[in-house]
Amino acid sequence: KDPVVAVAGATGAVGREMLRILAERDFPAKEIIPLASSRSAGSKIEYKDSKLIVQELTEDSFKGVDLAIFSAGGGTSEKYAPIAAKSGCVVVDNSSFWRMDPDVPLVVPEVNPEDLEKHQGIIANPNCSTIQMVVVLKPLHDVSRIKRVVVSTYQAVSGSGQKAVHELETQVKQLFNMEEVTPSVYPYQIAFNCIPHLDAFLDNGYTKEEMKMVNETVKIMGDESVKVTATTVRVPVFFGHSESLNVQTESRISREDARAILTQAPGIRVMDNPEEKIYPMPLFAAGKDETFVGRIREDQSTENALDMWVVADNIRKGAALNAVQIAEFLLVKDLVRVP
Ligand code: A2P
Repeated sequence: KDPVVAVAGATGAVGREMLRILAERDFPAKEIIPLASSRSAGSKIEYKDSKLIVQELTEDSFKGVDLAIFSAGGGTSEKYAPIAAKSGCVVVDNSSFWRMDPDVPLVVPEVNPEDLEKHQGIIANPNCSTIQMVVVLKPLHDVSRIKRVVVSTYQAVSGSGQKAVHELETQVKQLFNMEEVTPSVYPYQIAFNCIPHLDAFLDNGYTKEEMKMVNETVKIMGDESVKVTATTVRVPVFFGHSESLNVQTESRISREDARAILTQAPGIRVMDNPEEKIYPMPLFAAGKDETFVGRIREDQSTENALDMWVVADNIRKGAALNAVQIAEFLLVKDLVRVP
């Protein structure tokens, strides 16, 4: 029988995309229930040809619900995911709150779908930058074990939610009208700027966002020997995260072999023809499902290392699509039940 599905945070940047993706992929749901804060309760939201009425998220929201996808902030997930699971509803959570909990599988379906078998009611969707990176790392790791990754990110404002999309838009208008710019989501002007500061700073000098890439990669790949160092940067792009990756492997993978391995891997589209000016860019990755890889080359400065450029839609593969793919896998494997 088809599940009753709730989307918590349905009015947000990721929540809206989730509803679009559920509709696009014709997710077999008996009913879809959009949940958000009291601020938007009663408002209407489109789903396929109908309009759904947004309900306020409360402790009673999950009675009779089989599956809930959360993207309403860490605090909301912390409080409501266990309540949902207790009432027999399986939760796929997009926040960072549950990701490193040992009882919570952290899953990218192209990489570690088998981890879903052990779920206890809550499943975590990884960080957007981690998802598109591990989709690319896994097939290379399977051929030659990855020793170290150096990654720098160029992250779109949509990753900080709808308010941030509005902030970039507003600042561009303000600047063209010679008005003063008023940052609020970000500590500085984001229009025509790059901000090397995502989430809070930690004692080790990294940001939380950077440490998410380090720790989540190990958990998803199931291999503690994969060392990652990251610098995460917010750039004035609306949709699509880009990453420069330097990947050191145990043995040499040639440029041609890397292209062949990645071309055959699930969820990846290789766009790598410099002569024809073909390489991935966020402008063209927005709205797409694949993780795009280009600029593949052997690192000339050391042994057994590759450089590449990886781009994906952070709201789709980086968030909503990955969560829906997890939900589809749960359904197919008959795992939509809390043990
Ligand atoms: P609302 O629109 O009612 O504020 P974004 O990531 O784009 O900022 O969206 C955040 C999403 O999470 C929105 O759907 C928002 O609903 C929802 N949300 C935020 N705080 C809460 C809360 N305390 N309870 C329920 N939903 C919340």
